[in-house]
Amino acid sequence: MKALILVGGFGTRLRPLTLSVPKPLVDFANKPMILHQIEALKAIGVSEVVLAINYQPEIMLNFLKDFESKLGIKITCSQETEPLGTAGPLALARDKLLDDSGEPFFVLNSDVISEYPLKEMIEFHKAHGGEASIMVTKVDEPSKYGVVIMEESTGRVEKFVEKPKLFVGNKINAGIYLLNPSVLDRIQLRPTSIEKEVFPKIAAENQLYAMVLPGFWMDIGQPRDYITGLRLYLDSTRKKSSEKLATGPHIIGNVLVHETAKIGEGCLIGPDVAIGPGCVVESGVRLSRCTVMRGVRIKKHACISSSIIGWHSTVGQWARVENMTILGEDVHVGDEIYSNGGVVLPHKEIKSSIWKPEIVM
Ligand code: GDD
Ligand code: MG
Repeated sequence: MKALILVGGFGTRLRPLTLSVPKPLVDFANKPMILHQIEALKAIGVSEVVLAINYQPEIMLNFLKDFESKLGIKITCSQETEPLGTAGPLALARDKLLDDSGEPFFVLNSDVISEYPLKEMIEFHKAHGGEASIMVTKVDEPSKYGVVIMEESTGRVEKFVEKPKLFVGNKINAGIYLLNPSVLDRIQLRPTSIEKEVFPKIAAENQLYAMVLPGFWMDIGQPRDYITGLRLYLDSTRKKSSEKLATGPHIIGNVLVHETAKIGEGCLIGPDVAIGPGCVVESGVRLSRCTVMRGVRIKKHACISSSIIGWHSTVGQWARVENMTILGEDVHVGDEIYSNGGVVLPHKEIKSSIWKPEIVM
């Protein structure tokens, strides 16, 4: 079986992290977002993943080369010379997706995180016999997603409305599709939106079916959702494989600590924290609801909450970093500095406090 991951887009909403790497390579729960997806695809027997990409393909491919052999899965790129939207890339990769088997293939948005119930999706797809299956999930704020109206008993989609201005329902497109090869005949090689131009037509022909996704789901393409996504991911890890989570008197709730990270005396860590490879957390540090990426050093008695600390940054002693502060790669926050929602570009040194949410260039 094959799969295509929609990797395009500049990831502007996840800046400054995406100034250092393409969005799919931003770490989430101690590994690049896209690895969560590739591992899930491999686990259900996908043999080849096509990355539909419109910029910096070398960075992605170089990074993923290692994983090709480690995971035993073929990873190729299909590169656009102009952004082709969410459907055009399927037409471009047509020859890579089609083979003699006539099997359906997966398509994934690259910024969604879930338990990836892909096996269940294959069963669902076989059972309804339609041309395309999509996963849907319930959200509180449907207007920023594609909304799906479906027949509850069968899952048949009656209507697909991308980013509706008026409320039409709260079940939304989760960005995980299983499509028959015939769907490719509906897509031309030009910038096209699968949500606006393809799904509504398949739905009108009663060939589109939606499965309600079991478990959690989040689009982690924005900092606030990224932090919420980590909480949901760690909750699910607690239920499914709690041995992966840290334990001890200094841990509160769900915390992921990479085996190569060092944690000092008298720290209090959690809930909902991920500490990446090679990090050094000195003594007396307080961390909650945050991600600390590879190679970060947090000095004594610093306190970090609801924030993301980018790769190889340092946070000075007694510093207080909170309220959606996002530090890009290699940022250095001085001792006793306060950051309230600062968004700091890579390689900066912060010598004076950031009192209100702002971008520091
Ligand atoms: N190759 C390529 N080329 N990929 C693209 C392009 C492009 O021109 N434009 C967007 N993508 C990729 C993005 O990288 C992402 O993985 C996916 O297509 C969806 O684009 P987003 O920009 O993240 O869209 P969204 O989050 O506003 O909405 C989409 O996702 C929602 C779920 O998170 C839609 O599919 C909604 O219907 C859905 O509810
Ligand atoms: Mg998105």
